[in-house]
Amino acid sequence: MLLRRIYRCSFSVARTCMTKSQRNGPSSSSNGTKTYFITTPIFYVNAAPHMGHLYSSVLADTSGRYQRLHGKDVLFCTGTDEHGLKIQQAADNNKKCPEEFVSEISNSFKTMFDSFNIQYDDFIRTTEQRHIHTVQKFWKKLESNGCIYKGSYEGWYSVSDEAFLSDNDVTDGKDKNGQNIKVSIESGHPVTWMKEENYMFNISKYKQQILQWLDSGAIQPDIFTPIVKSWIENIPDLSVSRPSSRLSWGIPVPGDDTQTIYVWLDALVNYLTVCDYPEQHQQYWPANVQVIGKDILKFHGLYWPAFLFAAGLEPPKKLFCHSHWLVNSVKMSKSLGNVVDPMIVKEKYSADVFRYYLLREGVPHQDGNYNEEVAMEYVNADIVNTLGNLIGRCTGMSVNPQQIYPRKNEDIYLSKITASDRETFENLDILVDTVCEHYEKMLFRPGIESIMSYLRWANGLVQQHEVWKLAKSENESDLLQLKCVIHIALETLRVSGILLQPVIPTLSNKLLNRLGIPANRRTLKCAKVSYLNSPDGYPLGPNEGVLLKKIKVKK
Ligand code: MSP
Repeated sequence: MLLRRIYRCSFSVARTCMTKSQRNGPSSSSNGTKTYFITTPIFYVNAAPHMGHLYSSVLADTSGRYQRLHGKDVLFCTGTDEHGLKIQQAADNNKKCPEEFVSEISNSFKTMFDSFNIQYDDFIRTTEQRHIHTVQKFWKKLESNGCIYKGSYEGWYSVSDEAFLSDNDVTDGKDKNGQNIKVSIESGHPVTWMKEENYMFNISKYKQQILQWLDSGAIQPDIFTPIVKSWIENIPDLSVSRPSSRLSWGIPVPGDDTQTIYVWLDALVNYLTVCDYPEQHQQYWPANVQVIGKDILKFHGLYWPAFLFAAGLEPPKKLFCHSHWLVNSVKMSKSLGNVVDPMIVKEKYSADVFRYYLLREGVPHQDGNYNEEVAMEYVNADIVNTLGNLIGRCTGMSVNPQQIYPRKNEDIYLSKITASDRETFENLDILVDTVCEHYEKMLFRPGIESIMSYLRWANGLVQQHEVWKLAKSENESDLLQLKCVIHIALETLRVSGILLQPVIPTLSNKLLNRLGIPANRRTLKCAKVSYLNSPDGYPLGPNEGVLLKKIKVKK
């Protein structure tokens, strides 16, 4: 029986692959748990990772963590895209053999993912044997289904995008030396004219199926759907191989090693390799969600479903397409020297600080603008001044000398807490539903905003009741009022901590530890039921210092 090898990063629990017979069938595992398959694009290894790459990964990771909190059997895959002319040329420019070159950069992606707690289950490299086998099997399937024919291609090619382009897709531009060249309208990258023999794929045959899939709302946010539809009109057949004499760094066409498989076909099939196509892919395929950036929408919104339909497979259930990060309003580029290296940001601040900012500020339908000072203002306002401040105020020895969750006295609750505050508090379970609704759609910003506004409300309550004064009083009613307010604030913190786990796993863990919440009571189900009203009050956890110190921007 074929076992799928699962590659796990160091911190994740070892996981044994289940065989077909152990599974209950598509979309559920042997214990009846629903499966959830999520992917990132696989990253080009022509240069070191930057914040754009991290963003795709953090989005997918946060979604995977959220689905795990729901008790789903998550398969989360990422990896590196190592073949093609672009990589071949980058290796040459670095005077390295491609194997050595790609391994070094692939490792730097792995290091970055591990540093940012990207909890992947499998890290695929397209140079691995298991992938080469899958791609060749997939090719043979397309061939036996009569979808590939030998032909010739004449047109433009962009090496940077590894894309074939028509006359309508290119425009006049200038190279670095000011010489006139042709460039891709979409990416601005230089293109060259090509005429060569290769294998072709009749993509227009799948037009209706693709349209139906698009109409089902497969691409999120919706704004990207009409863009893909506009590409479908008059789409020419797609070249799916290159002569090996021009491109040797790739996977040979089965039975014809004069041709190398087109790198995008090779790369897209990674999503099937990780779920053991053609042996066991039914357990996970079709993917629940595939995260992509808008620059690779054509490949995933058009080519990928067409290849899948041609092979008799279903398209992914959802493509989540995000926009790009600019840096101080300018596109990131090596030549401008403004590429943000996540490892440097992590060293200066922390992984969670950067994760928080990316998810708190980024929205999928619009480009984001990274400015380190503004980013740290957000983090200070939310995590230090709102979340951290509230923990400090409710767990400090002066207001909470017993270091417990105080019990809430019902009479005091009704007489001292206003009806409006009681209503807000009693709606904490609605906060859970609201946040889950946003997280389900991978809209983390509104989810985080809802949590923060609740925390601000709880801070306001603590302020309004002047807990530091109540703590000094000897009047029993004041002390009961103090306990009541602390109870409300701690409960808000507990629910917020649970909901923030997918976003800032390390800080949430620290918060929930401080609150003394047992590991098995940190699920979304637990967030919906009251925990704190034990007769004697639960003990708090150990004090490991402030949640996060106020950040000063470091140059
Ligand atoms: N190798 C292909 C993907 C193949 S998937 C079968 C590729 N790689 S990439 O390294 O260039 O990009 C990977 C991801 O990073 C894409 O989702 C892309 O959108 C994202 N980003 C690259 N630059 C970005 C920004 N400046 N901002 C946000 N994300 C961007 O394309």
